Amino acid sequence: MPLIAVDGPAASGKGTIARALGRHFGVPHLDTGALYRVVALSANRAGVALDDGAAVGRRAAAIDLSLLEDHDLRAAHTGEAASRVSAHPEVRAALMGFQRAFAAQAGGAVLDGRDIGTVIAPDAHAKLYVTAAPEVRARRRFLELTSAGRDVTEAGILADIVARDARDMGRTDAPLRQADDADLLDTSNLDIAAAVRAAIDLVSKRLERVP
Ligand code: C5P
Repeated sequence: MPLIAVDGPAASGKGTIARALGRHFGVPHLDTGALYRVVALSANRAGVALDDGAAVGRRAAAIDLSLLEDHDLRAAHTGEAASRVSAHPEVRAALMGFQRAFAAQAGGAVLDGRDIGTVIAPDAHAKLYVTAAPEVRARRRFLELTSAGRDVTEAGILADIVARDARDMGRTDAPLRQADDADLLDTSNLDIAAAVRAAIDLVSKRLERVP
């Protein structure tokens, strides 16, 4: 059964695409960014400094998955904090086992994140690198957050996205990058339906070639 890796920067559409791939190919989906968000929330609430890799790593090792339902999980400040904690090798190491076990399920799986095709599941049968221009991603995130009643500005979101890209691509441990054998999907000029169709086509072609 297929193992599918979906990576890309913030608000590229990779989460929506990965969920749709899960439904289409009948495999469970894991949003790995949510794990880093949980660690960030848990560290913040425990008063742990986000730059203390060892202490945040201990929060990650004892991850409390009930925080996946937390109201603040999707907030912009949680994404920003997640990006900071995810740079610590202790945190990445603590979350690796859970992600690899999810990927190893007999029935297959789809995981989305930043390092799925490069580190977590380098042997995935199909890999997508989903991206879009920063301005397009900022616009999408702005519409998503304001429709959820959040008080945000588009300029603020763009600044956050640019800073997050730089941090995620610039870190030493598992930086965000397109795996050599990943298909590139730029969603800048695609609506959700078209992006999902393109993703299903790319993944289907890869899966046809699996022996
Ligand atoms: O995808 P999402 O915006 O929820 O991810 C939050 C942060 O978690 C990202 O900015 C990134 O720093 C981190 N992350 C990561 N590796 C992953 C998934 C997310 O470092 N596989």
